[in-house]
Amino acid sequence: MKILVLGGSGLIGNFFIHNSTDHEIITTFNKNKINTPNIISKKINLPDDWDKLQNLILEKKPDVILNTMAFSNSDFCETNKEKVYALHVQVTEKITTLCSKINSKIIFLSTDNVFDGQKGNYIETDETNPINYYGHSKDLAEKIILKNENNLVLRTSMVYGSSSKVRFLRYVIENLSNNQEINTYDDIFNSATNLSELTNGISKAIEFNANGIYHMVGSSCVSRFDFATAVAKVFNFNEELIKHVSINSAKLKAERPVNACLNNSKAEKTFDIKFSSINEGIKQVYEDKNELGIFNT
Ligand SMILES: NC(=O)c1ccc[n+]([C@@H]2O[C@H](COP(=O)([O-])OP(=O)(O)OC[C@H]3O[C@@H](n4cnc5c(N)ncnc54)[C@H](OP(=O)(O)O)[C@@H]3O)[C@@H](O)[C@H]2O)c1
Repeated sequence: MKILVLGGSGLIGNFFIHNSTDHEIITTFNKNKINTPNIISKKINLPDDWDKLQNLILEKKPDVILNTMAFSNSDFCETNKEKVYALHVQVTEKITTLCSKINSKIIFLSTDNVFDGQKGNYIETDETNPINYYGHSKDLAEKIILKNENNLVLRTSMVYGSSSKVRFLRYVIENLSNNQEINTYDDIFNSATNLSELTNGISKAIEFNANGIYHMVGSSCVSRFDFATAVAKVFNFNEELIKHVSINSAKLKAERPVNACLNNSKAEKTFDIKFSSINEGIKQVYEDKNELGIFNT
């Protein structure tokens, strides 16, 4: 199958392109060049380079477009609404219109931040109600994508794994391995998701030609404090270095849903896959820890 991965230099896109050897992969990057032999990659900065992307799609006519491009920092989104609307909503609309004409399926990566976090354990049919601009823009994009019933929305959250591009896991390991204290929130909760299980789930969804919405997340609903504690236990770091603080003590630009955890039963059942608990998932990362680029051995 021919797959165009938009955002192949990001955490999820990059892991996907390196582990999809069964498919013909074409990909894009913006600021971070991709140096992978055998994979065609094009620099595309949106919305400015729309014509370039349009020509690429029309020339390659991919069977599937996996759109992982985003501004993934919710505080940045809160203060850069125009830029975020342009990339998350307007570009999504243009890609969707073009792909409907040439019968390419779009898979759009979305977030648990489409929910308000009042309930937790959200299923795919629960009503969205975003409380920050990141979630709001993703919610608008999901609705555009789903106007074509062949398209697919995969919601994920708090992705960690054996990649140098992981953010929170890297912060935890770099500090704890150097005996530095870390402050972690103990009063907001998300489903922690193992990167290789997520990309395996994306591959399964492609294989099954799935459409609609699926929650592709790990099986544990954790705070940042729980997550760091699980890392410390598996990597044998000093747990006392992990301090817990309230999200309210941080002056963050974007409000966070308190409990945005997602129920993954539909994905597990449909695609016959199993998502790990946080302890199992972190143990997998420990086994592949050289891939993190933090340790020498
Ligand atoms: N990681 C998570 O925990 C998580 C959780 C929930 C949802 N998601 C969703 O999953 C998707 C992928 O997440 P990720 O963590 O892999 O994101 P990421 O590491 O931040 O990567 C984002 C990608 O988008 C590209 N990009 C950013 N701005 C662009 C622009 N103006 N024009 C063209 N390309 C642009 C980046 O290119 P360069 O790097 O080359 O600039 C990069 O390839 C996103 O839609 C995100 O909302 C992620």
